[in-house]
Amino acid sequence: MKICIINGPNLNLLGKRETTIYGEKPFEDYYEQIKKDYPSIEFDYFQSNVEGELINELQRVGFSADSILLNAGAYTHTSIAIADAVKAITSPVIEIHLSNIFAREEFRKQSFLSPVCKAIISGFGLKGYELAIESLFE
Ligand code: DQA
Repeated sequence: MKICIINGPNLNLLGKRETTIYGEKPFEDYYEQIKKDYPSIEFDYFQSNVEGELINELQRVGFSADSILLNAGAYTHTSIAIADAVKAITSPVIEIHLSNIFAREEFRKQSFLSPVCKAIISGFGLKGYELAIESLFE
């Protein structure tokens, strides 16, 4: 099983950024942990702060990955182009958010991605990525 994790803008600052909302752990540390916890899975990880690079990556892995876990950060709430890319590819995409986007500012309650994703996980912190992975074993 090949799972690709794609993280969008500012998620490279996890562990430093608004830690009361996003937690203390850098994503790279978490990624090392899940690779160890799921040795049978082939993981691929990509992070970018640039919208077009996220689209390029979705197109690159989106016809071969068994699943894509996408946290598009703030682009979730703005990007029709990323939503179009999710629609264009064949790999199922699970939308992930560390925080509960429905319990925050009004502008975060709109997601252009949710209607084109297979599922959404929001509010479980980094554990959300594991919950998505676990769901793929069923
Ligand atoms: C986020 C939620 C977004 O609203 C925000 O812009 C982020 C992170 C989350 O993981 O909770 O950058 O996607």
